[in-house]
Amino acid sequence: MKSRSTDLSGALLDWYDRSGRDLPWRMRGAHSDPYMVWVSEIMLQQTTIKTVIPYFHRFMERFPDIQTLSKADIEDVFLMWQGLGYYTRARKLHECARYLVENTGGEFPKTHGELLKLPGIGPYTAASISSLAFDLPVAVVDGNVIRVISRLYGIRESTAVSLPKIREKAQSLMPEQRAADYTSAIMDLGATVCAPKNPDCGSCPFSESCAALKEGSIDQIPLIEKLQKVDKIGKLFWIENERGDVFIRKRTEKGLLHGLTEFPWSAVEGGREQLDDILFPVKGEWESFGKSIRHVFTHIDLELHLIKIRLSKDEEAGFLAHKRNEGGLFVSKNKFSDFPFSTLMKKIIKEEAKQKG
Ligand code: ADE
Repeated sequence: MKSRSTDLSGALLDWYDRSGRDLPWRMRGAHSDPYMVWVSEIMLQQTTIKTVIPYFHRFMERFPDIQTLSKADIEDVFLMWQGLGYYTRARKLHECARYLVENTGGEFPKTHGELLKLPGIGPYTAASISSLAFDLPVAVVDGNVIRVISRLYGIRESTAVSLPKIREKAQSLMPEQRAADYTSAIMDLGATVCAPKNPDCGSCPFSESCAALKEGSIDQIPLIEKLQKVDKIGKLFWIENERGDVFIRKRTEKGLLHGLTEFPWSAVEGGREQLDDILFPVKGEWESFGKSIRHVFTHIDLELHLIKIRLSKDEEAGFLAHKRNEGGLFVSKNKFSDFPFSTLMKKIIKEEAKQKG
């Protein structure tokens, strides 16, 4: 006799055969190229499919295999990533490519445990590569899967508490065969049918078994606790020399945006401290942009006040001689596209152009 979970996974796979999406990084059955699976999964971690598609195509064109990626300069990888945000992903991708080329000749390990040891690969990515590329029965758990499973089994606790149970249920639905298709199927179901708002329960292969649908609690499940964001306020300095070139530098602080190009800025939690001297003693003519820029990261809500400074030739020389400014340089605005600016810095470039025009 078939078990309940076999019925459910069979229904899910039938649904996927009829209604699964065609995506550039997807094949029916196991994917023949783990590199493609890996790059796409990293890109999709914090970014929507619609945004990722053109980035994925460009990235594959520029770095078609792991060897090419491992030999690239990190700046070039950042340039291909520009606008996707969360640049740590790009840095780890590059680091992992180098590691694999050096240690395994560029071959990916297959099992969840071995994949987990690689730089930038956590439980989710390890499970997705293991199942999508090698057809191994390891269930992925992401936001979509959490929603499908919580509703199907009527799990009402906050996700932080119920995660182990959700993992166990997701794994119990994993069929013995067609692991890759199961993974794609449950992701697609969560994205297209079991949507956060107004799910299309009429098209759902789980509708007859869904606890949340039966009890009318779809709207309340899953219970997701809002992340508390830290408010930061700071200043950003747009420094121009007499030629109209602008001072840029590579961010050396560890963490957020490390290694990307930036205009000097600094921010602190909460109050409006004087930050000017934290950066450098800048002479020259100061002018406020008159507008601040707000940018929201996963954990931080940042407000930056923009200050424009114009330096005379002498002031420029003094400025560049200051120890704090080592490694930075003045560049022409029409060369900005050669540098990997973060999305935040691109907002600032746009704002400055707007003020002028
Ligand atoms: N979200 C994350 N990974 C995905 C994939 N492989 N297919 C569809 N949506 C996804």
